Amino acid sequence: MIGLPERTYLVNHPYAQMVLTKIRDRSTGQIEFRKGLVKLGRLLGFEIARTFPISKCVVTTPLNVQAEGVDIPDIDNVVLVTVLRAAMPLTEGLLKVFPTARQGVVSARRMEETYRGGLEFDVEFTYVKIPEIKGSEIVIIADPMLATGSTMLKVVGEIYKLGVPKRLIFATVISTEQAIRRVLSKYPNAEIFTVAMDMELDERGYIVPGLGDAGDRAFG
Ligand code: URA
Repeated sequence: MIGLPERTYLVNHPYAQMVLTKIRDRSTGQIEFRKGLVKLGRLLGFEIARTFPISKCVVTTPLNVQAEGVDIPDIDNVVLVTVLRAAMPLTEGLLKVFPTARQGVVSARRMEETYRGGLEFDVEFTYVKIPEIKGSEIVIIADPMLATGSTMLKVVGEIYKLGVPKRLIFATVISTEQAIRRVLSKYPNAEIFTVAMDMELDERGYIVPGLGDAGDRAFG
């Protein structure tokens, strides 16, 4: 990989990389895997919040003196969309940073039986419930694996039926460069926050080296 694709932020904090390494390991069981995704959701949330504008404020401490501080008004301006089922633990972590987020869910299934390689994957949605999106809001879509971009493109299509947000952010654990470029070619203003970028897809459309099937590993 030569550099990162534009609008892509790599969470390369050693703690995040350590957690990722743990969940990549096939000997890591369900509970630790799920807890790892929760931790990474929180870390992704921190990095996303770092890009929000801050305002200065003053509070009075219990000592009855004033202390200057910082507020992040957009913390309460987030809509969080969870791609079921693998993103549920990631959302749990993101909610630590954006506790007042309104939430949407999309139940998506990659139709592996019709996959013929490349980036085109048939994706079936069995349930979609997303709140109306205001132009002042920041939408964060949580999906741990951005492999081909097929699911993400379809999810964004559903969101845009309900409104165009101020910012569109993908919170992922592992992404491929091909998928990032594909979603950015359709949605050039989107932003991708990811903990790692892997280079390849296997014949079933799984990311290599990846971490396997994130849903199966998190839910047993
Ligand atoms: N979904 C997963 O769970 N893993 C992959 O490698 C790709 C998509």
